[in-house]
Amino acid sequence: MTSTGVACENKHSFDRARQGYLNLLPVQYKASRAPGDNTAMVQARRSFLSGGYYRPIADFLCEHAVACKPSEWLDIGCGEGYYSHAITTALGSGSGYALDISKEAIIQACKRDKSINWLIASMARVPLATKSLDLLFSIFSPLDWQEAERLLSARGVLLHLGPARDHLLELRKMIYDSVRPYNDAKHLAKLPDGLQVVHTEFLNFTLNLPDRDARLNLLLMTPHGQRARQECRDNVVQTLEAVTVSVRLDRIERVGD
Ligand SMILES: C[S@@+](CC[C@H](N)C(=O)[O-])C[C@H]1O[C@@H](n2cnc3c(N)ncnc32)[C@H](O)[C@@H]1O
Repeated sequence: MTSTGVACENKHSFDRARQGYLNLLPVQYKASRAPGDNTAMVQARRSFLSGGYYRPIADFLCEHAVACKPSEWLDIGCGEGYYSHAITTALGSGSGYALDISKEAIIQACKRDKSINWLIASMARVPLATKSLDLLFSIFSPLDWQEAERLLSARGVLLHLGPARDHLLELRKMIYDSVRPYNDAKHLAKLPDGLQVVHTEFLNFTLNLPDRDARLNLLLMTPHGQRARQECRDNVVQTLEAVTVSVRLDRIERVGD
């Protein structure tokens, strides 16, 4: 890797974009013209997260990340980079990579932090070497478990964070006729035999939403916003003054290492 780009062992070269990212998503692996989160979702998430509403989640993650003392880490499905930036700031040293399949998300991420290696890439084909990473993050994102297992070094750790049972319950009640609790252990059904959960922790707090922008951005950055009828959206924006935030963090390691 150089400041202007990278080359692979098959002598394919990839230039660094002027914003600073590398686009390592070959066109034949794109399922659509603009895969991943669209501009509206990315901008809503960027505005909401920049308001500091999820700072307790970032602090929670950083505490666990610092305890791992990684030298090479990767945030998989990093979105517009809010957590990647918080992580690199907390770690203070080491080499950070963060990838997302959404070009818009990575363009926004480049504005957040110049020290991270931002990649447009698919989590199903991560362009990094086998067993090269000490710490992986999967934060509110889908995950390709086989790729995660391939990337983890012998003593590597995967920190997986996702919604727990009552996450955004009040918002979901305003959108759906019947609300099912999240099955927060569902993701573990796909855990490969070579990986195991060694620790699980929950973070719960009540989040006050002081204005219409905060409520609208929260709605639009979630899949619920895409599904909601207009009248439900209006109701959320006008009346949702507080919401439960409840997340689950799993620390996952290789079996037997
Ligand atoms: C809910 S967002 C979470 C973003 C970020 N981790 C956060 O919490 O702010 C999920 C992200 O996964 C990305 N994504 C979805 N499928 C992907 C794939 N196959 N490869 C890489 N990223 C993907 C989306 O573009 C989106 O930015």
